[in-house]
Amino acid sequence: MLTLGIETSCDETAAAVVENGRKILSSCISSSIQLHSKFGGIVPEIASRFHLEYIMPVAQAAFKKAGIKLADIDLIAVTYTPGLVGSLLVGLSFAKALSFALNKPYVGINHIHAHMFSAFLEKQSFRFPFIGLVVSGGHTTLAYVSDFNKIKIIGQTRDDAAGEAFDKVAKILELGYPGGPQIDRLAQTINASPYKFSCARLEDTLDFSFSGIKTDVLYTVQKLKKKSKLIKAQIAYSFQKEVIDIIAAKTIAAGNRFHVNILSVGGGVACNRYLRQKLSELGTREKAKVLLSKPEFCIDNGAMIASLGYFLYKKGARSKYSLTAVSTNR
Ligand code: KG4
Ligand code: ZN
Repeated sequence: MLTLGIETSCDETAAAVVENGRKILSSCISSSIQLHSKFGGIVPEIASRFHLEYIMPVAQAAFKKAGIKLADIDLIAVTYTPGLVGSLLVGLSFAKALSFALNKPYVGINHIHAHMFSAFLEKQSFRFPFIGLVVSGGHTTLAYVSDFNKIKIIGQTRDDAAGEAFDKVAKILELGYPGGPQIDRLAQTINASPYKFSCARLEDTLDFSFSGIKTDVLYTVQKLKKKSKLIKAQIAYSFQKEVIDIIAAKTIAAGNRFHVNILSVGGGVACNRYLRQKLSELGTREKAKVLLSKPEFCIDNGAMIASLGYFLYKKGARSKYSLTAVSTNR
């Protein structure tokens, strides 16, 4: 069974063809990120116009790479939440139109849920239950996942998302947008820093808070700039260490609390090298199996949407044409 996965929730226009939920025949992505960088963040109107322009060519590229024709598709899976409404609408309308024209079913997908499963893409099999961690530009979410359609949120950020905090600190350090990869790169250039930043711990919960640390960073940077003593790598290193150490510790704590030893990690921040190293180390120590999504599946992509769509379809999911785009994660 061939599933076409469509993802247009933010700046990536993505399409993929996946066979039987597991075999990725193609995964094509085009991003408008360069168009937003001069504004220091995503401009929703620019993102949706880009999706309109690129959705057809990206889908065609996915068909071509998979070596199939439009009519070969059996199912269409599409992100309908969460994200920028104007962007989501482009993918959702495209999917509905294809479904109607081809007379093939379609399934609307929550893209945070899809990130939870992306570490299993190309692996032998899924194993339930597992703890899913999604760390992205818009979300920091921990969930107890006992089936494709049984995802219970057990922890999330109370303010900024992890990626948002990386992007804001990168802005303070004038590193450009998106800032996560820049902080990751700079932090790798040193192995110690004299600074210590701290996040609210929110002990006894699996929730996160990342808004205080950026203010802490801002004041430190302002002081150091006045004294002409700012070394950006030291700030990047200390900030990254604190944020990632907390994320890693809470993920391990979630596994212990729910007696689950499989931890699956996805979302753009899961590309972070220190996060990957830290979670792998802690996983070995705690005898937990840490599954890290491949970098190309950490970022928004169509393959994870197609894969989850297939398994939900097998469980009976079908979407109606009345389904609409929903910006917030419900
Ligand atoms: O999942 P994603 O591609 O889009 C959303 O759904 O939000 O995540 C984008 C976020 C951005 O905030 C970006 O700065 C961050 O992921 N990011 C990173 C790294 N690569 C991307 N953050 C830290 N280290 C990285 N290597
Ligand atoms: Zn995402």
